[in-house]
Amino acid sequence: MTAERVTLKTMTTEHLNDAVELSRQVGWPHRREDWELMQSLSQGVVVQEEGCVVGTILMTPYGHDAATVNMVIVDAAMRGRGLGRRLMEEALSKAGERTCYLVATQEGLPLYEKLGFVATGKIVQHQGLAPPVDAPEHVSWSEDGDQARLVALDRAAFGHDRSALMRSLRERAKFAVVRDQGDVQAFAALRRFGRGLVIGPVVARNLYEARCVIDFLLADCPGEFVRIDTDESTDLGEWFTRRRLARVGDGITMRRTAGEPKDETTPHRTYALVSQALR
Ligand SMILES: CC(C)(COP(=O)(O)OP(=O)(O)OC[C@H]1O[C@@H](n2cnc3c(N)ncnc32)[C@H](O)[C@@H]1OP(=O)(O)O)[C@@H](O)C(=O)NCCC(=O)NCCS
Repeated sequence: MTAERVTLKTMTTEHLNDAVELSRQVGWPHRREDWELMQSLSQGVVVQEEGCVVGTILMTPYGHDAATVNMVIVDAAMRGRGLGRRLMEEALSKAGERTCYLVATQEGLPLYEKLGFVATGKIVQHQGLAPPVDAPEHVSWSEDGDQARLVALDRAAFGHDRSALMRSLRERAKFAVVRDQGDVQAFAALRRFGRGLVIGPVVARNLYEARCVIDFLLADCPGEFVRIDTDESTDLGEWFTRRRLARVGDGITMRRTAGEPKDETTPHRTYALVSQALR
C-alpha cells in the first residue's frame, strides 16, 4: 500500500508552494500569502511521498480553549488510504483539550463524523463584483486605538480569544466601524484573499449594523471581486444576492466537544467569517 512510503512532517514555510498547488488542485483559491497567514498562526503537518507534498492540515489555536482545523487536503491520487484520518489524528492531538471547529465539505464530512465532530449549521459563500453603493454616513474607518475593542468584540461574538489572529488581520486589512457614544459596537474587515478581496470578520449587534459596515467596505472597492462567507442563520444571504453577490457554495460547520463556552449574554454576533478555514 502506497501509504506505507509516506512520511508526516511539521509544515514549514518551505512547504507552502506545494501547499498552494495542492489547494489549487481541489479548486480552492488560496494564494501563497493566504497560506502564509494561516501557517504563521497554526501548527501544520504535511504528508510527503518521495519529497512531494501530498497532504496538508493546519490546527489553528485560539488561546488554550479553542482551535480550528483547516486546509485538510489529500492529493486525489492518494485518497482512500487512511491519510486523511492520519492527518486529522495529528491535528487533534496537537489541539489537545481544545474545542475544535471546522467547516466541512461533503467529502470531509464522513471522516469528521467518525472522529467525533457534530454538524452545527451551514456556511454560505457569496461572491461577485462589488456593486456601486453609498457609504453609510455613520460608519467610519477604525483608528489606531481601536484594536483592544475589536479583539474584545470578536471574542464576545466568537466565544474565544482570537487576539493573535486579530493582530495579523490588523496588518493586512482595513476595518470599518460603527461607534455608539464613542464605543465601537460593530466592525467589518476587508483584505486581499484568493481571487480578489474578502469581507470578514463582520461583528455587529444586529443585521442593520452588519449591513452598514459591509456597505461601507463595498463602497470602497466598486467593481472589484469580493467574497463573503456567512452563517446561513444570519439571514444575510438574500441581501447579498440583491447586492449582486451570488451564492456560489456552502459548507457544514462542525464542532468537537460537549460544551459551548460562548457568552450568551452578549448582543454581538459574527455576521461573516474571516474565512472558512479560520472561521
Ligand atoms: C476529505 C479528504 C481529506 C479525505 O482524505 P482521505 O485520505 O481519502 O481519507 P481517509 O482515506 O483517511 O478516509 C477517511 C475516512 O472517511 C471514510 N470515508 C471517506 N469517504 C466516505 C464516504 N463517501 N462515505 C462514508 N465514509 C467515507 C473512510 O472510509 C475513512 O474511514 P475509516 O478511517 O474509518 O476507514 C480528501 O477526500 C480530500 O482531500 N478531499 C478534497 C478536499 C476536501 O474536501 N477536504 C476537506 C475539507 S473540510
